[in-house]
Amino acid sequence: MRWACLAALLLSLPAAAAEGGGGSRSPCAGKYKDWLTLPDQFLRREQPPKLEGLHLACVWEADGVLQLEAYKDGVATAGLLRRTLTDTAASSWKELRGSLKAELQVRKRVNNWGFFHLRQPMGVFSEDGRRLASTREVLEAGFVLVFEGGQWVWPPVKVGHVRKLPGTDFALETLSVQPVLYRVRGFLHKEECDELVGLGQGRMYTSPVSLMDKDQGKESKEFRTSTQARITSGESKKLQGIEKRVSNLTRIPVTHNEEVQILRYEKTQYYSAHLDNWDPAFYSSPEMTAFMEHGHNNRQITVFWYLTDVESGGETLFPRANGLPQPRDMYSCDQGLKVKPEKGAVILWYSLHPNGNTDPNGLHAACPVQDGQKWSANYWVWNKPRNQAFRGEMPDLGVDEADEEEAYVPQQQQPMSNVVATFENPSSEDAYLFWNGPEKAVFLGVVAAKSAVNMNTYPGHVWHVRSGSDPSSELLDEFQIAGGDAQRYVVGSEVSEL
Ligand SMILES: *[C@@H]1O[C@H](CO)[C@@H](O)[C@H](O)[C@H]1NC(C)=O
Repeated sequence: MRWACLAALLLSLPAAAAEGGGGSRSPCAGKYKDWLTLPDQFLRREQPPKLEGLHLACVWEADGVLQLEAYKDGVATAGLLRRTLTDTAASSWKELRGSLKAELQVRKRVNNWGFFHLRQPMGVFSEDGRRLASTREVLEAGFVLVFEGGQWVWPPVKVGHVRKLPGTDFALETLSVQPVLYRVRGFLHKEECDELVGLGQGRMYTSPVSLMDKDQGKESKEFRTSTQARITSGESKKLQGIEKRVSNLTRIPVTHNEEVQILRYEKTQYYSAHLDNWDPAFYSSPEMTAFMEHGHNNRQITVFWYLTDVESGGETLFPRANGLPQPRDMYSCDQGLKVKPEKGAVILWYSLHPNGNTDPNGLHAACPVQDGQKWSANYWVWNKPRNQAFRGEMPDLGVDEADEEEAYVPQQQQPMSNVVATFENPSSEDAYLFWNGPEKAVFLGVVAAKSAVNMNTYPGHVWHVRSGSDPSSELLDEFQIAGGDAQRYVVGSEVSEL
């Protein structure tokens, strides 16, 4: 029934477009329906109902001028954009990119991380996943996908959607839209799984975790009880084959892949809910900040390999899928979407939105194994090549110099002066914390009733405490962060105590 609505919407397009200017007919009318995600799939109210920074566009020439048609943010709404591009757009790749950016309103700043010169330029791809690098290629392709974060992201369409990958036996099955999560059954052969388990055996060690500022001093055992081993691709021809296959699946070059991490969970072992990418809001040490390039060099995709079946338990849990709220208990497996391990299957999810920003819905956990043993592997795909040596070869780098004026405003750089603020909630209702950023309020966590949380923040920052996770819910309190080391703010009290 939803498809019928979409079909009706798409059928009405040529008429709307004819009034829109340019006058010529779009050559892409039949294309969009395979790529547009349906608006009713966005269940979260505190996040915009769109794929942030993924645009579906059509570029063609009519009467010597370039025409543009686009669905911004990949959502099937009635708001089809139709424009005639400036005369200069066809003159060079840089000019075409410039006018696409202007019409699609692509901005460097999508978060509060700063250092936007480290962000990747937007990428333009054909529908078969090829990065385009000239006006001619774009005109030949006609229908293109534009990613503000620079790397390909598969549009999910809707839960249950199955996308066959041309030239392969694989299909991406959409399990969730927020986060964007897929399952690919039969991606790994039985012999490949067995070889990887064999390589892992005998060299497992206790899994570490990278601790957020608020968790410094805690034992990683508190979060994670599995064991793991790193395996390099030189050790196995089969592994090299899988790495190429993953790259074909993600449309991101092998040079972006981190070496595989084989994991073993025995009975009762688990990993509490966490994110796989690093958001600078939660890590402030100079080493971490340098390593992740202020958030702009990050894990984009987790491809999770199931190397064995598990008799019972050991599911991968996404507690925020299906529009569910941030869980209070990161160890609970009661709430959320559960994926059952299945030998040879992989699941992949995006930790970053298509614009490169953190998607908090990427939160995931490994539920305790109840019976048997779970062998699996983490395989991370980064948004930039792992090795600095390959950075110089990054496509699109240096083509858009003109947008450097949008680069970060230096007076907001305060990496060394951060403070830890404790927010206490003595009441019997949960309270919701928002950092009131310059662009918009950012929801950063729940202070459960009669408890407290620590947040990393800066002097002068303003925090809002609300009754719900929706930024328009009732404002309970407002705090401006003072200078000094340990700060304490009590929700609902007249004066913040020291
Ligand atoms: C993926 O692999 C298939 C089969 O070898 C091939 O036809 C296709 O072109 C590849 N796609 C990409 C983007 O590499």
